Amino acid sequence: MDSSSTYARQLDAEDVLAPFRDRFIIPPHGEASQCYFLGNSLGLQPRTTALHIQRVLDQWAAHGVEAFFLGSDPWLELHEQLAGPMAQLVGAKPAEISIMNQLTVNLHLLLVSFYRPTGKRIKILCEKKAFPSDQYMLETHVKHLGFDPEEVIVEAAAEDMLNTIEQQADELALVFLGGINYYTGQVLDMQAITAKARKHAIPVGYDLAHAAGNIPLDLHAWQVDFAAWCTYKYLNAGPGAVGAVFIHERHHQNPDLHRFAGWFGYEKATRFQMQKGFKPVPTAEGWQLSTPSILLYACLQTSLSIFEEAGWDQLQQKQQRMQDYLWLLLTDLQKFKPAFQILTPEHERGAQLSLYFPERGREIYDDLMQQGFIIDWREPNVIRLAPVPLYNTFTEIWQFATALKKLL
Ligand SMILES: Cc1ncc(COP(=O)(O)O)c(C=O)c1O
Repeated sequence: MDSSSTYARQLDAEDVLAPFRDRFIIPPHGEASQCYFLGNSLGLQPRTTALHIQRVLDQWAAHGVEAFFLGSDPWLELHEQLAGPMAQLVGAKPAEISIMNQLTVNLHLLLVSFYRPTGKRIKILCEKKAFPSDQYMLETHVKHLGFDPEEVIVEAAAEDMLNTIEQQADELALVFLGGINYYTGQVLDMQAITAKARKHAIPVGYDLAHAAGNIPLDLHAWQVDFAAWCTYKYLNAGPGAVGAVFIHERHHQNPDLHRFAGWFGYEKATRFQMQKGFKPVPTAEGWQLSTPSILLYACLQTSLSIFEEAGWDQLQQKQQRMQDYLWLLLTDLQKFKPAFQILTPEHERGAQLSLYFPERGREIYDDLMQQGFIIDWREPNVIRLAPVPLYNTFTEIWQFATALKKLL
């Protein structure tokens, strides 16, 4: 690898996934296109999303409510079509996936099942600087159960996680962490953390907002208890897209597990007999409550079909190459001028890098944005960027590094 523009163009020419860029609508910047590096925030719109939405509108127009049951793709069967491809992306069985609600809502619902404080075991271990919505979710959830958040929520830095579990095991009722931290972009060793928590019989769950569709995951084999994620970041399903959850199959038929239920989690064969007494679907779908959002399902279906076509292994390979390339250019730049620090650890990262600027960060960010590099700013002093394999190019990465060099 070298830092010349010729080399970037060569990487693009060799890229077998290059044609997939055209499947997405890249927002304009003047006469050109944006260099859109915010797949970690809101992924770009696939060109075919509108067609999939229109198809649902047509089914609605043609059949009214009967569209749940009629036609070549009855809406009631859509969930199965989504659970399969989603399961592949996170290393789960399709029965362990439920596509429902949105992320923060799902986390509250999952805590109903997996945070069962008893005796001395009342604490929740989470990461330092968890995403604010997760902090508010934990704070209000434990308050609702009559606990003082200050007392029961324990925070630890990524590097102290295993020790903290070991030391506080007797008091922990739950380990709940972001698989990738939103601020630093650091990937946690979910396999080791899960194994450690399970050794002490502590349930463990992850917020995978920044991990799903980004890094390889093996939730079933790692024996994770539960996870939830949104689908509007790396999964490109649109603003406010439907969320997804993973619940390990060992919990599906446990009658002692508490849950909040609704009619779309009721066993399918007898759901519409409208009987008293909740009988769950014996899969993760048993955690569904409400009528599925068919329009949002259509958006997710569009993007999952693109992932399937591109191939998860190929996407991972390109992602790795892009990351190595970005790392090379930025570390070269640091040698030229040590004006920023890369917060994301070299060997624990996915698509996102977080660059910490002790000085002039905001000015540099504003300037790059004006030039059409779409990145984001997170207080304090961090520029985040996440080139993704489906629609970014190596040349864009080179252009970014060159623009940053000029500003430094
Ligand atoms: C790590 C993380 N957790 C939770 C959320 C909140 O997700 P939602 O607004 O879909 O509930 C986000 C949103 O960006 C996030 O990045």
